[in-house]
Amino acid sequence: MTEVKMNEAKNAVKKLWPSHLKEMKQRGEKIAMLTAYDALMARLLEQAGIDVLLVGDSLGMVLLGHDNTLPVTLDDMVHHTKAVSRGARRALVVADMPFLTYRITVPETIRNAGRLIQEGGANAVKIEGGQPVAETVARLVEVGIPVMGHLGLNPQSVNQVGGFRQQAKSIEGARRLAEDAQELEQAGVFAIVLESIPEELARTVSADLSVPTIGIGAGPYCDGQVLVCYDALGITGDSAPSFAKRYAQLGEEIVAAAKRYSADVKADVREARTGPARPSEPAATQESSAEPGSVVRATSKEKVAS
Ligand code: KIV
Repeated sequence: MTEVKMNEAKNAVKKLWPSHLKEMKQRGEKIAMLTAYDALMARLLEQAGIDVLLVGDSLGMVLLGHDNTLPVTLDDMVHHTKAVSRGARRALVVADMPFLTYRITVPETIRNAGRLIQEGGANAVKIEGGQPVAETVARLVEVGIPVMGHLGLNPQSVNQVGGFRQQAKSIEGARRLAEDAQELEQAGVFAIVLESIPEELARTVSADLSVPTIGIGAGPYCDGQVLVCYDALGITGDSAPSFAKRYAQLGEEIVAAAKRYSADVKADVREARTGPARPSEPAATQESSAEPGSVVRATSKEKVAS
């Protein structure tokens, strides 16, 4: 069996739910989380065995070209969450609640989170902050919406903290973060993202919690790790944070491939044209699992017929 086939077989076995993450922590099994913003990427990441797909509001920067995550709307998040949910079967899908869709009234917060679950198809939501959002977390959990916390660098507070910089470096800051983590756990979060904090603090906080921590720029001692998938795939270039390991250089591949295509078109190379109509093609099929990615195309006849 190829590695891809083995992963597919494993993926077919069991849908991951929020409660499974705690069991993974108890077993000492690390949690692999990546962001995903569309159905195709969700499908590919799932084939790779990624446990959690985060529809991060980072999509505002990565996909939509904003300088930060603040302009991202709830409609943006619902739209992308729907796509990711369509692409994911086994992975747990977590959707970010964007800026000012919580830390408002509780009924409004519940309605907003409810849209990500009901319309978007997410299994859980993620919200940024510690003690000030603990009450909100408790209310969401009470109505049946699982919540992932997010401490350390909270990108939605970029104006308040003055940029994207490491947090909780002072003794007082570290103490506050550790207390926030305890408050979130008591409020009912099923996991907490720790972003850009010193690794020794992440180690202590992870050891003191029963729910798993998922680190990004927080060192190796968290119970899992998360990266923005485009950073990990090497598409975001210089805008990727320095701690983000690149597992591929797809940005360079894309530019090189597009250059080759452009050169073919300009030289009028035959294969670069759409080609002649094929005689009596079969009707378009909805799905083909023949190749990664082909399943999400409305018509896969190009692949079938060629
Ligand atoms: O929006 C996002 O992608 C995130 C991760 C960086 C954790 O919150």
